[in-house]
Amino acid sequence: MKVCSVVGARPQFVKAAVVSRELRAVGEEVLVHTGQHYDEELSDVFFDELEIPEPDYNLGVESDTHGRQTAAMIAALEPVLEETDPDVLLLYGDTNSTLAGAVVGSKRDVSVAHVEAGLRSYNRDMPEETNRVLTDHVSDLCFAPSEEAVANLAAEGIDDGVYWTGDVMYDTILEARTRAHDRSTILENLELTPDGFVLATVHRASNTDDRSNLESILDGLASSSLPVVFPAHPRTIARLEEYGLRARAEEVLRLIEPQGYLDFVRLLDAAERVATDSGGVQKEAFFLETPCVTLRRETEWTETVEAGWNELVGPDEDRIRDALTRERGTHSTPQPYGDGIASRRIVGLLQQAIDDDSSPSVE
Ligand code: UD1
Ligand code: UDP
Repeated sequence: MKVCSVVGARPQFVKAAVVSRELRAVGEEVLVHTGQHYDEELSDVFFDELEIPEPDYNLGVESDTHGRQTAAMIAALEPVLEETDPDVLLLYGDTNSTLAGAVVGSKRDVSVAHVEAGLRSYNRDMPEETNRVLTDHVSDLCFAPSEEAVANLAAEGIDDGVYWTGDVMYDTILEARTRAHDRSTILENLELTPDGFVLATVHRASNTDDRSNLESILDGLASSSLPVVFPAHPRTIARLEEYGLRARAEEVLRLIEPQGYLDFVRLLDAAERVATDSGGVQKEAFFLETPCVTLRRETEWTETVEAGWNELVGPDEDRIRDALTRERGTHSTPQPYGDGIASRRIVGLLQQAIDDDSSPSVE
């Protein structure tokens, strides 16, 4: 089995880590990094900490408009597939790197497989929603993290090649949580105590690229009686500076660099609660039983809301204040995202699909 995996952005490194290890135990992996995230703290640190092998190809595409960035990835990825001729092209999540892979793979004689298929926010203004929908519709194999994701695909007429696998980020965090506790000194470095701070992350285009939304989020976070630790994505720093909000942010938040995975997991586990617009962080908060305030109006991770661990408040100052100042409730923790062996299931299904494809058909 020869699989070409495409990754490019921070959450994809986290998703690919365990799958890549499982894959290499039974077959060959060609790992392609599109270059979408290139700063050390958004890329290399994840390869080091999660022991992801060096990419075989780095397409070096970096930041640009959606169209130019995706087009450059498409142009650079096609010759890699020609040269390596894999059985499967494996894609993760919903970034422009995912979409570029979907476009190239769907036009070649290769099976396209999508990890984290079937997620829907039903907000078509979100670039990631377009990327997910288009990728699912051209994928031969859709690996869904939850039953709801399977149902979402069925509602769009996608039934063939759909498999419930559980969520690969759960696999990764189960391993990383213990390592984070053993190795990370971030709480000591920042002089934080467990439950003595709120963690916050913001990077969604709808929040960063709209001055009033970003300001309203800052004002909402400012109402926290606990310090708010804010590992800032470079996109958010750029906008804070452009809008003249950096000084206000420094005043109400503890602005820090984007963190490596182990330090971030340690922070998330220890935080009294988290406020975020990230998809992955909402889910990881749920895994770690840290209450989450989501700075969006909708989510694709609806099970976390239904279970009571996540509250959708949008970029609304009053609702953020209300959610941050309310007593934390106690909630049960169902397991809608599987049992921590999603990666193994995915690799088994890939193997099976390749074997079925190569066995002579019986007339
Ligand atoms: C991308 C994904 C988003 C994902 C996020 C994870 C798309 C459409 N968006 O958003 O789904 O949640 O990654 O973090 O694919 N930049 C740097 N250094 C880097 C990378 C980016 O400074 O290494 C800055 C650049 O100014 C760039 C901006 O961040 O213009 C946005 O980067 P980009 O990769 O386009 O989108 P993200 O916001 O990171
Ligand atoms: N993350 C990290 N350091 C940070 C912020 C996030 O390691 O400073 C990790 C987080 O644990 C999760 C992933 O990055 O695994 C989520 O990425 P992000 O929020 O950028 O993207 P999204 O999940 O929204 O696509």
